[in-house]
Amino acid sequence: LSATFRLDPAFTVAPVSRRTFGSFVEHMGRCVYTGIYEPGHPTADADGFRQDVLALARELGISLVRYPGGNFVSGYRWEDGVGPVADRPVRRDLAWHCLETNEVGIDEFMRWAGKAGVEVMYALNLGTRGVQEALDVHEYINQPDRTHFAEMRRANGVDKPYGVTMFCLGNELDGPWQTGHKTAHEYGRLAAETARALRSAEPDLELVAVGSSSSSMPTFAAWESEVLELTYDVVDYVSAHAYYEPLNGDVASFLASAVDMDHFVDSVVATADSVGARLKNPKRIMISFDEWNVWKQSAFESGATAADPSEWAIAPRVIEDEYTVTDAVVVGNLLISLLRHSDRVTAACQAQLVNVIAPIRSEAGGPAWRQTIFHPFAITSRFARGDVLRVEPSGPLYDTEKYGEVPVVDAVATHDAETGELSVFVVNRHQEEQVSLAVPLGGFDHAFQVAESWTLSDTDLSATNTVDQPDRVVPVEASGVTVDDGELRLDLPPVSWTAIRLT
Ligand code: AHR
Repeated sequence: LSATFRLDPAFTVAPVSRRTFGSFVEHMGRCVYTGIYEPGHPTADADGFRQDVLALARELGISLVRYPGGNFVSGYRWEDGVGPVADRPVRRDLAWHCLETNEVGIDEFMRWAGKAGVEVMYALNLGTRGVQEALDVHEYINQPDRTHFAEMRRANGVDKPYGVTMFCLGNELDGPWQTGHKTAHEYGRLAAETARALRSAEPDLELVAVGSSSSSMPTFAAWESEVLELTYDVVDYVSAHAYYEPLNGDVASFLASAVDMDHFVDSVVATADSVGARLKNPKRIMISFDEWNVWKQSAFESGATAADPSEWAIAPRVIEDEYTVTDAVVVGNLLISLLRHSDRVTAACQAQLVNVIAPIRSEAGGPAWRQTIFHPFAITSRFARGDVLRVEPSGPLYDTEKYGEVPVVDAVATHDAETGELSVFVVNRHQEEQVSLAVPLGGFDHAFQVAESWTLSDTDLSATNTVDQPDRVVPVEASGVTVDDGELRLDLPPVSWTAIRLT
């Protein structure tokens, strides 16, 4: 098979937003406890943070981390997690059916984020709480001094406000599983009043209204329409969440998961813009794709990867999915989809960071390692610089049960006009055939050289990285890469993700 697309520096989509490379730390399973935090671990620093996990988080290239949930946040009392640790209450976490010790709270997480060098996106509880509690936690986080909660923070040893800019106005409140689930009207009114109150405290906040929990929600798009009608003036973003898995052995559709992500984004953009048109408001609402990943959700729903409901355990193993080569190719493709929508998706968080459906795995008292999905994320974050270029591949199609005929090859590229670097990210979704790819670089007045090229593929597509074989699946140098006479050429193995950096 063969495929081609042209690259031209004149055809840009938007600048690469660093916030595209966000992640998510929820108080869930072992993401926080024995994930980022484990006092007593051989690598723990004085604050109890695992240095091995921190080093991998840095290597992953994350820019932004959403915290503290997730479904967890819809029953969370932030006050439980501040002040002397010995005085903090243990609470039931109804979202994940376990106990929350509150050893880690806002101040600890902010300290971790400082060490990791990431921006924090703070999610507010609009499930069981409301406007006042949102104002209170905002005051604790961002008010400099003299007020009750600012002085509480200072008494807890943090003199300066954290200066968090992005706040999520709740989590997945469209979902019947959410504690405090609401109709679009109920949520839209609460979100609007919370946003208005927060803005009177700090006008320049970037606020994220809750969007749909997946494109298959019965309220998909209608939810966004009603919520944005009520919040358009006071929010900047609407959220999107999507998880993908191979269902009933349908790998062909699974490999085309980015088709659903494209459809999700295009539908929410169309919905948001139609609300803007109706309101005669030229403002553009952006998308915060603040939960996305591969997640074997059917295994969770069957109980196989959930906490034992008869126990109230502390930091139980929950959805510690082990990722395959195919999963990594899909994750690389989802990043391609996010990048190609950089004009409207300006923040995104892969869910989650450690242990819970995560690129990083760790064992209590033991090692930390990179899952297969770590690699496309880390390389894309490192290579994607400057502007996203418009890419229109032409090539073969294949048939899927879920999405009909879809392109075998999907790709995106970025170009940094300052350094001259050009990066290409491409997947071959075909399960048997290799694809020869030709990329004419006619629009560039530059003789490119290949600086780095990486491919993730394997003869065993179900191969994973485990505690015993942490580097079983790693990217290797891409094959057949040449740049001659203004054309980049390379071979894409079946089910593969490839990234090339040209200088
Ligand atoms: O990331 C796991 C869970 O998935 C989150 O808590 C929730 O928001 C979503 O349903």
